Amino acid sequence: MSDAPENPDISPEAVDAAVDAALAAIAAAGDTAALKAARSAHTAEGSALARLNARMRDVAPADKAAFGKLVGQARGRVNQALAAREEELAAAETAAKLEAERIDITAVAPRGRVGARHPISLLQEEIAQIFVGMGWEIAEGPELEHEWYNFDALNFDEDHPARQMQDTFFIEPVDRHLVMRTHTSPVQVRSMLEREVPLYVLCPGRAYRTDEFDATHLPAFTQFEGIVVDKGITMAHLKGTLDHAAKVLFGPEAKTRFRANYFPFTEPSAELDLWHPTFAGGARWIEWGGCGMINPNVLRAAGIDPEEYSGFAFGMGVERTLMFRSDVQDMRDMAEGDVRFSEQFGMVV
Ligand code: PHE
Repeated sequence: MSDAPENPDISPEAVDAAVDAALAAIAAAGDTAALKAARSAHTAEGSALARLNARMRDVAPADKAAFGKLVGQARGRVNQALAAREEELAAAETAAKLEAERIDITAVAPRGRVGARHPISLLQEEIAQIFVGMGWEIAEGPELEHEWYNFDALNFDEDHPARQMQDTFFIEPVDRHLVMRTHTSPVQVRSMLEREVPLYVLCPGRAYRTDEFDATHLPAFTQFEGIVVDKGITMAHLKGTLDHAAKVLFGPEAKTRFRANYFPFTEPSAELDLWHPTFAGGARWIEWGGCGMINPNVLRAAGIDPEEYSGFAFGMGVERTLMFRSDVQDMRDMAEGDVRFSEQFGMVV
């Protein structure tokens, strides 16, 4: 210690004083770092005890044994106190650390919810599988679509009402002629332009209309579009294909029927009804989608000779399909993202 005299008189009092100072410092040390400082101040080179020990050589030979014992005992007491305090502090620090890191193994762990596929995605995939199983290809197109693909190439008149503001999300600047596609039918045109005939393609994807957000309408919804172009394709192929899909999705009793309708891109066109054998309110016919034979004008717009090839197309809503397949009352449940809705369909990842 710096206040220890350079050459202390070696006396029992001096030894006791050095020991008392050391013991006080040891007792006062509140943590292992403070204890380390006390150890070096009171026992290391330069400390009072070390200096007293060094004075041994000046002690008369007759007194050497007695003083040697005195200093030795003093150092022993200090070292013992150091060891005891060290143990105490280490135990306290370990206890504090354990307390801080304490884990309550009986506590209920916060349950990280595992995500899962949305029922719309699952159904879309199930539908795609039916057609992949028949050797069809899957095609996708952009949701932000050029008016030409969405309307013109599909034989919509310049003044067809669907082009007007009530149905279509037009994207500004309007002179770029971009729309949010109002159906998946533009992928028909893209597929015909991009692929070689014969063509067997299913196009699942999102479509957009300025509809109300209510129990049976979503402004952003999902469709699947089927298109076939080959030699000698007739409406019987269309019917057979749809009957097969209906049976896979709704059971062996399911079937489809056509009612005359109009779409600019098919001729003849049909409204497609599904016989739903397990409908919640009893088996019945339900309007499912639209279909028809591809209009020769559409084939021509895609560079296919209608004299040589013919084809069919159909389009259905996935939300609607899920609605009457799984007895969902309100379509908004499919859009709002509440996991409790998805959980009812099983947490399929
Ligand atoms: N695109 C039509 C719709 O969204 C459905 C349809 C597709 C009709 C293909 C005929 C052929 O209403």
